[in-house]
Amino acid sequence: MEYFTAKTFKIPELKGISGKNIEEHLKLYAGYVKFSNYILNQIGELAKDTEKNSYELGELQRRFSFEWGGMRNHEIYFAQFEGGPNALAENSNLRAMIEKQWGSFDAFLARFKAVAMTRGVGWAMLYYDKESGHLLTQWVEEQHIGHLAGLSPILALDMWEHAYVYDYLTSEKKKYVEAFFENLNWTIIEENFNGIK
Ligand SMILES: [Fe+2]
Repeated sequence: MEYFTAKTFKIPELKGISGKNIEEHLKLYAGYVKFSNYILNQIGELAKDTEKNSYELGELQRRFSFEWGGMRNHEIYFAQFEGGPNALAENSNLRAMIEKQWGSFDAFLARFKAVAMTRGVGWAMLYYDKESGHLLTQWVEEQHIGHLAGLSPILALDMWEHAYVYDYLTSEKKKYVEAFFENLNWTIIEENFNGIK
């Protein structure tokens, strides 16, 4: 059974992130969709005898969040490039919230970029918690470890080396972070924020 279908994205030519890198990256995304489906189907089969398959079921269930995260994180990531680069509108709700919380948009950017430089493979994320009314930056290890329960990322920066390995040396990941922000369509991120708010 196909629970999830890989999405397509209209990604324009990007500055500093090559079409080749995006093309290869999209293949990896498709793998996460495939294996999200695979795990659920495997669980369905093995659950016919939960006693006999208890160990395997436990391991598959544990692994599901990795594949799921890889699927959903990438969907947020690629969508952010659609429509081409767009600054965050001066009068936007999100800009007002960022400025309230960090003092200025630049101060927020500096904070977020520092999160992106965390050692390891994973994601720099920005969430909005409507319960407390705060934006939260977070590092998510791999695809799934450290996600904030109940929150959906509004901005997602993939910091796995596969996100930039065709364009930059692994020691140059800072350049990739800069390129990412050059290409962001902040209208999409604003929509993500308004959808939660
Ligand atoms: Fe990725």
